[in-house]
Amino acid sequence: MKRKVITTSDGSTSIEMEEWGETYHSIHGAIQEARHVYIERGFDKIATPEIKVLEMGFGTGLNAFLTLVEARKKNKVVEYHSIEAYPVTEEESKALNFEALYDISEDEQLFNQMHQCTWDTTHQITSAFKLHKIHNTFEEAVVNQEFFDVIYFDVFGYQFQPDLWSVEIFQKVYDALKSGGVLATYACRGPIKRAMKQVGFTTEKVPGPPGKREMLVAYKQ
Ligand SMILES: C[S@@+](CC[C@H](N)C(=O)[O-])C[C@H]1O[C@@H](n2cnc3c(N)ncnc32)[C@H](O)[C@@H]1O
Repeated sequence: MKRKVITTSDGSTSIEMEEWGETYHSIHGAIQEARHVYIERGFDKIATPEIKVLEMGFGTGLNAFLTLVEARKKNKVVEYHSIEAYPVTEEESKALNFEALYDISEDEQLFNQMHQCTWDTTHQITSAFKLHKIHNTFEEAVVNQEFFDVIYFDVFGYQFQPDLWSVEIFQKVYDALKSGGVLATYACRGPIKRAMKQVGFTTEKVPGPPGKREMLVAYKQ
C-alpha cells in the first residue's frame, strides 16, 4: 500500500497510508500524541531503574526515540523490543524530523542508528538503551514471557485491522508482561476493552491526547 510522509499540527512528521487515509499518529500532533499515550501513560508509570518495553508496530521509530529521550532525562536503563512487519524505507526515515525537534547532538545519530541497525539482533544504541527490532507479524512473532514492564500497543485503527485488536493478540502481550506491568494504547472502543478484559487485564479509560477524548490503559495484576 502506498505511504507518504506528512506533517502534523505540532510540526512533527508522520506517515499516511494513502488508500486508507489512516496516519501512523494523530494529525493533531505526532509527538504530542506519542508522548501523552506511551510515555506519560506507559513508560513514566514504571518506577524501577531498569525498564523493558515491548512495542507493537515500530513504524517511524517515534516511540522508540521518545523513550530514549525520556530514559536519558530520568536516568533509566531501557531494553526496547519492537515488532514490525512492514518497515519504513530509508527514504521515509530520512524524511522524518523527530530528532531535529529535540536538543540532541546530531553527532550521535541516534534516530538514524535505530533505523539502520539490523533486525532480529540486539543493539546497544547508547550505554543505557538496547534496541531489539523483530521483523515479523504480530500474529507470528514469538516474544519473551513475563519479561516486559510496559507494552505500547500501537497498531492501526480497529476499523482497518480489527483482527489485531483480538483476544489472541492481547493474550500474547498479556503473557509477555510481568505482573504489575502496564499496557497503553490510543484506542478506546468497547470491543477492544472487552478483549483486554477477557485475557485478564484490568482496564482504565483515561483522557486522550488533544483531539481524542479517551484512551485505554490496561494493567496485569
Ligand atoms: C500505527 S502504525 C505504528 C506507529 C509506530 N509505533 C510509530 O511510532 O511510528 C502501525 C504499525 O504496525 C505495522 N503493522 C501493520 N500490520 C502489522 C502486522 N500484522 N504485523 C506487524 N506489524 C504490522 C505497520 O506497518 C505500522 O508500522
